[in-house]
Amino acid sequence: MNKITISEMPNHIGETVKLGVWLANKRSSGKIAFLQLRDGSGFVQGVLVKEEVGEELFTTAKGLTQESSMYVTGVVKEDTRSSFGCELAITGIDVIQMAQDYPITPKEHGVEFLMDNRHLWLRSRKQHAIMKVRNEVIRATYEFFNNNGFVKIDPPILTGSSPEGTSELFHTKYFDEDAFLSQSGQLHLEAAAMALGKVFSFGPTFRAEKSKTRRHLIEFWMMEPEMAFVEHEESLEVQEQYVSFIVQSVVKNCKIELERLGRDVSKLEKVQAPFPRITYDDAIKFLHENGFTDIEWGDDFGAPHETAIAQKYDKPVFIVNYPVGIKPFYMQPHPDRDDVVLCADLIAPEGYGEIIGGSERIWDYDLLKQRIKEHNLDEKAYAWYLELRKQGSVPHSGFGIGIERTVAWISGAEHVRECIPFPRLLNRLYP
Ligand code: 4AD
Ligand code: MG
Repeated sequence: MNKITISEMPNHIGETVKLGVWLANKRSSGKIAFLQLRDGSGFVQGVLVKEEVGEELFTTAKGLTQESSMYVTGVVKEDTRSSFGCELAITGIDVIQMAQDYPITPKEHGVEFLMDNRHLWLRSRKQHAIMKVRNEVIRATYEFFNNNGFVKIDPPILTGSSPEGTSELFHTKYFDEDAFLSQSGQLHLEAAAMALGKVFSFGPTFRAEKSKTRRHLIEFWMMEPEMAFVEHEESLEVQEQYVSFIVQSVVKNCKIELERLGRDVSKLEKVQAPFPRITYDDAIKFLHENGFTDIEWGDDFGAPHETAIAQKYDKPVFIVNYPVGIKPFYMQPHPDRDDVVLCADLIAPEGYGEIIGGSERIWDYDLLKQRIKEHNLDEKAYAWYLELRKQGSVPHSGFGIGIERTVAWISGAEHVRECIPFPRLLNRLYP
């Protein structure tokens, strides 16, 4: 008999097939039983009519506990009422293991309880859908950068440098030296861009941030492109093309998941390049005109500020040219002003906040050396980075996108903790 997955069922209408499944849920009366089955590839309903399958099989089905594992056999039936298009008329059940007291029941549970049971919570419909969206974002990311001549580069996780400032570093010992877990691969990617032109990385990033917000993880995944001979505005064009591409890929390839998540797809369909740009100066002016008296020129935006600015648009918006004082040491100054830098944060719509941070990089040797001094960075640790500015230095730009924040926005999840398989949060290293 043909052993298939649930996702393959639409290609087997009318055939008798075998599937390895878990029981997600069930409903039954004296005459008919509906089993909600899942196998990782999808969810499908299995049906048993007592009169047709006989007393013994019907009793087995009725006795199954939530999350029991089994092989089922049955006939694939077309069913236009299900979003998936078919169901299984079950003719046999071979129980592998009866699950005992599965803790996550169809009733409501608190978030802390679900987080303690993350190893099981991943099986639920919503979490399954979010992981599929995450997978599509990653798949489309590789497709986009491979199609556009980028080379994938893997920067080190153990480093001696801290591109984004020293306050949020994870310290560790590297034999006799001090080391940190990477908070961005950018500096090493700049070296790689001088070797390969256009590069990107995709990997874990660590920030010992004491922030307990719906946007902060301690360990998150960042994708960082770096491009030689690419100036600020050209980098923004890559960003808007890339973000449009991943959003439209999810709309196209995750229809069932977006429906299960209750996501308003019409909002995602509007995410097409180009995206609006607003300067930091104008953003401050806009906030002042709209009742935000708590912010002055030179301050960084908080979540409420970003949300208010994003609400003006139905696409992500670039806020460009931030004050030099609130951005990292490596950013290229504006050609006409020394108080702002050539950078942009991309703010997602619907209150999801900053998803991308990027900039043009300083490529002048003396200026970079001065900035390293001003920021009190250890000049020895950055000697190699500075040397790049001596050996055929060129204008170059790059950016970093936080995958969990992006997935939260696209899937409409309230919190980034649901957008990574096993979140590391303040006070959470389990499971
Ligand atoms: O703005 P950030 O700090 O930029 C950099 O690290 C640059 N070196 C990137 C580059 O130019 N190559 O971080 C980039 C993105 C943010 O916009 C956000 O989406 C995400 O990383 N991010 C976080 N996501 C979850 N939890 C956290 N604690 C995050 N911190 C940053
Ligand atoms: Mg940032």
